[in-house]
Amino acid sequence: MKSIEWKNGRIIIIDQRKLPREEVFLEIDGLADLCEAIETLAVRGAPALGIAGAMGIALAAQKSSAATSEQLLSELKKAAEKISGTRPTAINLSWGVKEALDAAERAGDAGEMKKAVLQTALEIAEEDEKMCRAIGGHGASLVPQDAKILTHCNAGGLATGGYGTAVGVIRAAYEQGKNIRVWVDETRPLLQGARLTAWELKEAGIPFKLITDNMAAHFMQRGMVDIVVTGADRITSSGDAANKIGTYGLAVLANYHRIPFYIAAPFSTIDFSLDDGMKIPIEERAKEEVCSFRTERTAPQGCDAANPAFDVTPHGLITAIITEKGVVTPPFKENLSRLYSQEAKVK
Ligand code: MRU
Repeated sequence: MKSIEWKNGRIIIIDQRKLPREEVFLEIDGLADLCEAIETLAVRGAPALGIAGAMGIALAAQKSSAATSEQLLSELKKAAEKISGTRPTAINLSWGVKEALDAAERAGDAGEMKKAVLQTALEIAEEDEKMCRAIGGHGASLVPQDAKILTHCNAGGLATGGYGTAVGVIRAAYEQGKNIRVWVDETRPLLQGARLTAWELKEAGIPFKLITDNMAAHFMQRGMVDIVVTGADRITSSGDAANKIGTYGLAVLANYHRIPFYIAAPFSTIDFSLDDGMKIPIEERAKEEVCSFRTERTAPQGCDAANPAFDVTPHGLITAIITEKGVVTPPFKENLSRLYSQEAKVK
């Protein structure tokens, strides 16, 4: 099962808001519905958002009745702005949108443009699972036999084109026969760990225990965590990494307890236009998400709350960044930039 697919001119997504209680698929055939699905996290996770972004441009192209390539391109640019504006932190969303737009710009007439954007979106979706498997393969080499691994949020098959990034590392280590056990952080306020990662690991038969976010320090102190691995929504050229709120706290804890802290993400998550994590835009979500536990209100009416959806882990706390191109270790600035130049040469 894929978290996002293109079928008969529509975007099919599994509605992640309803998991694990219900497996409901949404058939999206309009831009407004796609934007709503992204904003409300029916589709979520940085790489899956990249696919959604590119498919959104394909959808806009398909729906367009523009007579000329200029008209079509101008419509696609407007669609691109709308889609990219839905969630600001994950660079993958605007990256996927841009890849599709670039394909349109390279094409000739309007008909060719429509074909080119769809082809790009389908390629991004197909490539993503391959990239995740490569990330998993590289990352598994860092996982010791009998490791107890802690992960945060959901960086699994649901958050990607399949297999997952951080969960991909866990899956690959398990598939290699390593006797691993996983601590799954619940991940308040929206419970991506409890609802999604626990569901994925259960389906895969990988041994895990669910913990609340405030238990991590306790288990680290007792020597019950060997490595931490999470995904990322945006990584700067210096290696600072934005990920689900709570990740930075885990990195500080891991550093204090001398536990390796790994970030697993596709190369497209690196934003080479930024060198400082403090410049990454952090999405602020509705207070209601903090004032309630799922649908039940827990805080008094009128209670104020803050709800940053992501935080930034400075590169100094990261042991290595695992990408499909290999494991990148410090100094990140030099080593990431070397990979960037290699990629530019290949293109
Ligand atoms: O708000 P979300 O659920 O989209 O946040 C997702 C995360 O923070 C993931 O850890 C990150 O996108 C990596 S997904 C492979």
